[in-house]
Amino acid sequence: MRRIAVLASGNGSNLQAILDHLDRQGSSAPAQVMLVISDRADAYALARARRRDLAATHLSRSAPEGALESLLDEYQTDLVVLAGYLRLVPAPVVRRWTGRMLNMHPALLPAFGGHGMYGHRVHEAVLAAGARLSGATVHFVSEQFDRGPIIAQWPVPVHLDDTADTLAERVLRVEHRLFPWCVDAVARGTVTLGADGRVHGTLPYDFARFGVEGPRHPFVPDE
Ligand code: GRF
Repeated sequence: MRRIAVLASGNGSNLQAILDHLDRQGSSAPAQVMLVISDRADAYALARARRRDLAATHLSRSAPEGALESLLDEYQTDLVVLAGYLRLVPAPVVRRWTGRMLNMHPALLPAFGGHGMYGHRVHEAVLAAGARLSGATVHFVSEQFDRGPIIAQWPVPVHLDDTADTLAERVLRVEHRLFPWCVDAVARGTVTLGADGRVHGTLPYDFARFGVEGPRHPFVPDE
């Protein structure tokens, strides 16, 4: 049973989706969330963890160098999941968990990504660019912000009358279905990061298989 630590700065709806997914897997779940860490003491993600008697730790921005790594070690963490975590993860931690650290980005990377591109800023940039398609991207974390090898993406249409709020809500619904399956696949080892720096294995929700030509995958959001 792989041990997961989730880092979240905000509401924690992706955390919740992962917890619910693993619950649904029951005894066949490949992993369990042991620890939730937030850089914000008032993050609702911590409340979600406490509600399930999970370790929930506020790691303030002024925490000493190495505090995060010590905490991950204390809980013998196999997999680190960044679910709306707004801090840069220290490079030594990223290096140590290479191929075992995932992030969710609310756009189709590499577009609309990079430093400072998070939360509503992403959706505002998509609308400002007049893009007709946004989406969700799950990727392995590398030392360059939002530039790690991509595990899975799913498109989300942009409506002409969208605001950052309406687009964010539509993308978030897709995130909640895509992220748990990516975490599950990496925990099971059916998706791996090769020494060549590329993703290998069977992709969860491979859009290429269920794309516009393919059967209407049940996952396609009801748009
Ligand atoms: C999500 O939109 C995610 O894509 C981004 O931050 C947000 C986190 O939302 N990284 P929540 O805290 O999981 O509800």
